[in-house]
Amino acid sequence: MKIFSEELVEKAVRELHIADLSKATIGEVLLVAQYLENATGIPFIRMDQGSPGLPVNQLGVEAEKAALDRGVGSQYPAAAGVPELKEAASRFVKAFLDIDISARSCVPTTGSVAGSFGSFIACTQRIPGKNKVLFIDPGFPIQKSQLRVIGADWVEFDIYEYRGQALEAKLESMLAAGDIAAIVYSNPNNPAWICLEDEELKIIGTLATKYDVIVLEDLAYFCMDFRTDMGHPFEPPYAPTVARYTDNYILMLSASKIYSYAGQRIALTCISDKLFERQYPALAERYKDAGVFGQTLIASILYMITSGCTASTQYAYAEMLRLSTEGKINFVADTREYAVRAEKMKKIFTDNGFHIIYDYDVTQKVGDGFFFTIGYGDMTGGQLLKELLYYGVSSISLSTTGSEQQGVRACTSRMRDDLYEVMEQRMKAFNQDHQLAQ
Ligand SMILES: Cc1ncc(COP(=O)(O)O)c(C=O)c1O
Repeated sequence: MKIFSEELVEKAVRELHIADLSKATIGEVLLVAQYLENATGIPFIRMDQGSPGLPVNQLGVEAEKAALDRGVGSQYPAAAGVPELKEAASRFVKAFLDIDISARSCVPTTGSVAGSFGSFIACTQRIPGKNKVLFIDPGFPIQKSQLRVIGADWVEFDIYEYRGQALEAKLESMLAAGDIAAIVYSNPNNPAWICLEDEELKIIGTLATKYDVIVLEDLAYFCMDFRTDMGHPFEPPYAPTVARYTDNYILMLSASKIYSYAGQRIALTCISDKLFERQYPALAERYKDAGVFGQTLIASILYMITSGCTASTQYAYAEMLRLSTEGKINFVADTREYAVRAEKMKKIFTDNGFHIIYDYDVTQKVGDGFFFTIGYGDMTGGQLLKELLYYGVSSISLSTTGSEQQGVRACTSRMRDDLYEVMEQRMKAFNQDHQLAQ
């Protein structure tokens, strides 16, 4: 039996002015869930928004307080970032990726969202005629919204059918026209939690060099592929990265998830040193500067968007990175709780007729972590999103992420111990009410 009636959900949709619930954005789903909770007092199981569900890293907080007490608040921080953070970032990249990027080329941004925004601008303006972004989807819808703001075009494809070697021909077919400026993906992936393997990263890196494309590698969930323990500094296994296969890369390293520091808005864009130094006449002409990629990105683009990052937060991030590099913070162990939750949640769903959609990487089963994807029979993603709402579970449709698969994304971050039983009862009822064809 449904928990929330169709009439009540329809009333919520009407009053909240939501055009089409089956295509609802995260923000809209969130509003409906809140509306229904408020109207009935019945709690929702919130699988919609990907906000961290763990406490903030306390060592970061202490460092931030100490920085404020030292008086850093009175001075403008350098646009390129405070030296302590830049040095700590360079060392962190060496410790966990085994990649050399100089401190100069590690640039803080107010979250990776600001990092991708600035990077999209620099990438799409550096060579006339090379101005589109290629999304290896499914992906983070915000990044497409950023291109709408800039007025840049994009192309996209769902990687589901193109894992492993199949990726090469697909990518090459999209790069051959020569108008792609940048390729973007997240690894581990939001929303599917798939992880690109070395074979695939090599294909992406090799083609990026061949077609002079910059890879924006979004590491928002850095080392959170818990199938492999990558949490030990200066020790293999190192996290996979395209940086091993091309010099055309920008790595985006957010503090939001690995240190549960989302509220303070801090991340790093780590630019390959070779790319940082490249000179582009089109950038020089447009910005009336030297047109050196890294310098233009910092001083002529990012500064115009955020005018630097909060000084105290930079010191907090520097300290957390430094302690991780010294083995005193194990951010991988600290976030493993998401995998524990995913395993339990996936079991409840699959015991009740659901299937995992993105279930395999090239060589192994997709791991447990921050997100997973589920489908039910032949329901479309939009239908499933809507039907789950009647049973008090909120999610987002995969169609909003560039996926061509039918299903929804589930986020584990807000799950609590007392909710598993409730979820089990609700999904049992869902399964009873929605008979699957044998
Ligand atoms: C793939 C991806 N990139 C970036 C972000 C946001 O990062 P930040 O908080 O650093 O702006 C998220 C958060 O949901 C994400 O999933």
